[in-house]
Amino acid sequence: MKYLIEGGKKLSGTVRISGSKNAVLPILAATIITGKKTVLKNCPDISDVHCTVDILKYLGYDVTIDGSTITVDSSKKSTPEVPRELMCRLRSSIIFLGAFINRFGYAKLFPPGGCELGKRPIDIHLSMLSQMGVDIIEEDCRIVCTTPKLSGGEYRFSFPSVGATENVMIAALKADGPVVLKNPAKEPEIVDLQNFLCTAGAKITGAGTDTITVYPTNSFHDCEYTVSSDRIEAATYMAIASATRSMLTLTNAPCKDLFRMAEAMEQMGVYVMESNSHTLTVIPPKRLKPVSMITTMPHPGFPTDAQALLMATLLKAEGCSMIVENIFENRYNHVEELNKMGANVLVDGNTAKIFGVETLFGAQVYARDLRAGAALVIAALCAEGTTLIHNVHHIERGYEKMIEKLNLIGANAKVINSKEQTDEPYSL
Ligand code: UD1
Repeated sequence: MKYLIEGGKKLSGTVRISGSKNAVLPILAATIITGKKTVLKNCPDISDVHCTVDILKYLGYDVTIDGSTITVDSSKKSTPEVPRELMCRLRSSIIFLGAFINRFGYAKLFPPGGCELGKRPIDIHLSMLSQMGVDIIEEDCRIVCTTPKLSGGEYRFSFPSVGATENVMIAALKADGPVVLKNPAKEPEIVDLQNFLCTAGAKITGAGTDTITVYPTNSFHDCEYTVSSDRIEAATYMAIASATRSMLTLTNAPCKDLFRMAEAMEQMGVYVMESNSHTLTVIPPKRLKPVSMITTMPHPGFPTDAQALLMATLLKAEGCSMIVENIFENRYNHVEELNKMGANVLVDGNTAKIFGVETLFGAQVYARDLRAGAALVIAALCAEGTTLIHNVHHIERGYEKMIEKLNLIGANAKVINSKEQTDEPYSL
């Protein structure tokens, strides 16, 4: 599948932000520890969610999807193993490790898939679980975990890994005493996981701070939980508004989690007006100003997931901006493609210098990962001419109905199935 986007259209109107990909994926995995019925609202219709649902169904659980509501009944007995094909489809399949350890005291899993952002090891996940008493061996390319007992106590993350924090929180609910986690990730998705688990009957405190305390329990109940909205999807539409110099209003947006993106936008001269906790309007200036230096950091720093989006916006700023990527070693997959469109971005190690240009041009480009793909959409929307974006399955992993949402605000974009003729000259 490809996206064909005609640039240069002024956009206007309202975009409704969908549920958060990074919050719903660990929550879906965590539903299996309850052995009860969970109704999750505000779930995004994206391929990563469908892959996770496929894993739950493979495990033998009843899952139904009704619009943005997913119901998981995990009361049946199941197996603590996932085949390689399902495991490799997404990175966050690794969260089934903590869920299996909790539910079965045993797990046998292939390493996960996901975006190619350089090495994405799981050493922190395994080291924390091992310190808590999980025996871990590698067998036939699989990680095999057995848990004679999971010990309560105090444990410290060497780095605040989001996935490792989620895995350990879920597993720790099975420990033989309270588990105190120091230096955990503080991302909003960690708070969402805590809120979900507490709604299902657990007691966990401190998510979003430097110390999380997990009080083990076996006693869960049926529950209904509304997943937070996607802060990175919201950041994407903030970037789209700014780059195309269009006024857009975002509804169902998690305003409190957007402060870093809003700060960066404000440096660029964009006015971000919050009407209430879930509605904001982006009002761009005639010409964007550059930013001196934006550095990606664990939350509450600037999110690495918004780095490519910010860069695509800065392409049209008047002057030179700098971005430093500190979280992933290979997260400039979009640069080569943006430069094909007339951008002027130089990368040296983890630093990118973005020299603003007057005009971007439509081109044939390739989405190399999820956010790199979104950056190409942003550039395409403000380019002269038409852009053909290949490999959009990466984009569809994390963006619900992106082309539909864009056309609703005045873009001229369409999805092309691979078999359709798209040789140049291509047109909408
Ligand atoms: C999650 C998000 C992803 C986001 C990232 C950082 C999901 C599904 N994905 O990914 O969108 O970009 O947080 O905010 O929620 N690391 C290790 N060893 C480990 C674990 C991580 O070295 O055991 C390194 C990673 O290679 C990476 C950094 O730590 O360089 C951050 O990884 P982590 O916070 O774990 O990100 P993910 O949970 O994979």
